[in-house]
Amino acid sequence: MPARGVFAHYREFMDVPAHTVEVTLSEGDTPLIPVPKLAEELGGGFELFVKFEGMNPTGSFKDRGMTVAIGEAHGRQAKTVICASTGNTAASAAAYAARCDMRAIVTIPEGKVAAGKLAGAVAYGAEVIQIDGSFDDALSLVVQISQQHPIALVNSLNPYRLEGQKSAAFEICDTLGSAPDWLCLPVGNAGNISAYWMGFRQYNQHKGTGLPQVLGVQAAGSAPLVLGHPVDKPETVATAIRIGRPARGEQALEAAEESGGRIIAVTDDEILHMQRRLAASGVWVEPASAAGLAGLARQLCEGKMDVRGKRVVGVCTGHGMKDPDIIAKSMPSPQKLPSELRALEDAILGRA
Ligand code: F0G
Repeated sequence: MPARGVFAHYREFMDVPAHTVEVTLSEGDTPLIPVPKLAEELGGGFELFVKFEGMNPTGSFKDRGMTVAIGEAHGRQAKTVICASTGNTAASAAAYAARCDMRAIVTIPEGKVAAGKLAGAVAYGAEVIQIDGSFDDALSLVVQISQQHPIALVNSLNPYRLEGQKSAAFEICDTLGSAPDWLCLPVGNAGNISAYWMGFRQYNQHKGTGLPQVLGVQAAGSAPLVLGHPVDKPETVATAIRIGRPARGEQALEAAEESGGRIIAVTDDEILHMQRRLAASGVWVEPASAAGLAGLARQLCEGKMDVRGKRVVGVCTGHGMKDPDIIAKSMPSPQKLPSELRALEDAILGRA
C-alpha cells in the first residue's frame, strides 16, 4: 500500500493552491479510542472517546497541518521554513522539512520545552534557536522574519496549516458516522479549535454530518481567552499551551460561541489528575493533551453540561512520551531492590 496521508485522502476538502505537492509521513488516521471506564468515573450514561493524536508520526496533531503547509511551501520552491513553537510544531516542521530537503529554523521559548519535543526537532535536523522570552515573543519575531525574507512561516497563522488540521474533524465524522455531540480540546495558540470548527462545518455542508458543541480548555495560568485579555507571563505545567496571546484567539471564541459551547480554564492539578486518569485507561498523553478532558470533568462536576445519552470526543493532542520529565516529577520513582529472588518475592507479595 502506498503511503496516504491526510492531504491525499481529503484533498477535495482542502482549499490550497494548485502548486501544493504531497509531502507525507502517512499522518492522520489516528485511533478514536473508547474510554468507558473514564466515562463511568465521570458519572456515566454517555459515550466517551479519545481521538489520540499522539499517534501521528512525530507524536502530535501538528503533522496534519504541517504536511499541507510544507507541501505548499515546497511546491512554490521555498527553501526555508520557520516557526515559533512550544515544541510540537517545531518537531513536526523539522520532520516534514527534512522530508523534502528544506531548511527548518525553529524558535522556542527558553527552558520551557519538554525533552521529547526538543530532541525530536534536533533529531530531524532543525536549526533550533532558544529565544530569551515567551512563545508569544518568539512568534512575533518569526512573523517579522517571514515578512522581510523569503522564508515560509509554518505557524498556524499560515492558512494551509488549518486546511490540513481540519482532517481530524473529517476523520471523527467518518468513524462515528456523524459529528459527536461534544468535542473537548485544549486551546493554546487556538489554531486547532479553529480548524476543527472549520472542518465540522464543511463536512456538515457536504455530508450533513451535524455539528458538535465545542468545549475549548485553557490552563488557568495561561487563559487569555477566558480572562478576556492577553497574559504577559503565562505559566502552566502544560508547557505546550503556555501562551498568553493566541494568534487565532478571535476565531476560537467564535467557534465556541457558534457551536453553543464555551472556553473555560482548568488548574494544573486538574490537568495532571486527568493525565493520570487517561493513563489508567491505557492512554498516556502529554499534560496539555489532558486539558480538554479535565475541562469536561470540571463541567460535569459543576453540573454545567448534560451529556446523558450523548457522544463526547476528547482530543488528546500529543503523546505522553513527549514530556517524560513530568512523570518523574509528579509520580513516585521506582522501588530499588538487590538482585535477589527473596527480595523480589517479598516486594511483590507485600511481605515486610
Ligand atoms: N496540545 C498540544 C500538545 C500542543 O502542542 C498545542 C500547541 C496545543 C494543544 C494547542 O493547540 O495552539 O492550536 O491551540 N502547540 C503549539 C506548538 C503552540 O508550538 O507546538 P493550538
